[in-house]
Amino acid sequence: MRKNCLFSRNDNDLINFSNLAGRSASTPEQLRRMALQSTLYEPVTRALITSAGIAQGSKVLDIGSGAGDFSFLLADVVGPGGSVVGVDHDPMMIATARDEAEKQKRTNVQFLHADVRSAFLDCDYDAVAGRWILAHLPRADHLLRSLIRYVRPGGTVAFQEFDRRLTGATSLNPSDLEGLSPLLTRSEAASSPGAGMGLELHTAFLKAGIPAPHLALSAPVGAGPGWLGYDYLAADADHHFHFPRPNDAPTACHADRAISLRERALGAGAAFALPPLVAAHAQLPEL
Ligand SMILES: C[S@@+](CC[C@H](N)C(=O)[O-])C[C@H]1O[C@@H](n2cnc3c(N)ncnc32)[C@H](O)[C@@H]1O
Repeated sequence: MRKNCLFSRNDNDLINFSNLAGRSASTPEQLRRMALQSTLYEPVTRALITSAGIAQGSKVLDIGSGAGDFSFLLADVVGPGGSVVGVDHDPMMIATARDEAEKQKRTNVQFLHADVRSAFLDCDYDAVAGRWILAHLPRADHLLRSLIRYVRPGGTVAFQEFDRRLTGATSLNPSDLEGLSPLLTRSEAASSPGAGMGLELHTAFLKAGIPAPHLALSAPVGAGPGWLGYDYLAADADHHFHFPRPNDAPTACHADRAISLRERALGAGAAFALPPLVAAHAQLPEL
């Protein structure tokens, strides 16, 4: 029998998109960048899912689920006997995730439109997880403390975040990278709020009363004509700090830099490491 919080609602009560009054902060350009990011970081995230012990039959809560890419990876792992609920406060993200779930005929994943800080959720999850979410919210430790009430005793808490102080790298000579190095260093993004979330996960878990997490750092590495990382580095730079030239359309400056980076890398036979992700997971005590 399922254990529910006093204030929880059933999965059947998940809100319909047509009823939503919320406004979206996401744009098609951001959705495209997120899709590219999810594709490139998929192996890195699958490694977290496996090491956190999320497995066939698990019931998982995905916080800040966006367009659903992390939820879909979780749903692949938990299989038909498990379930995933993604929660996001952006109606456009929820609509995109639900459309994709329908297109992929997924039956073990649902998306709930809610603010994670005030959502009404079941309290029998095997795991609460999130990727690229804690950096967006003030006081990650407070949020984590509020989230663990949704997880059963002995369940798992698993998160993955960038740390903007950790940058990408390339085997290109610095002289070949001239003018393009901000794509890798992201120096301005390093001082934005939440920029250090990756390495702060450890402290946030402890302050939230969660046992010290297992930590890992990993990054996608790629090269060659078909690698999507060149486009991602350019799109990510556009997103985090604008350095357009006069009269550049936003997409034109992204495309120009992606082409330039690809040409220089292919000419030199160079490889790139994208900015790494810090993964943290811990098991809650059994009662
Ligand atoms: C960078 S996206 C991450 C998407 C997703 N986790 C993934 O891995 O693909 C961050 C998401 O967190 C959502 N978000 C931010 N604050 C939130 C809150 N208080 N409640 C629910 N969702 C929130 C945003 O709407 C956005 O979709």
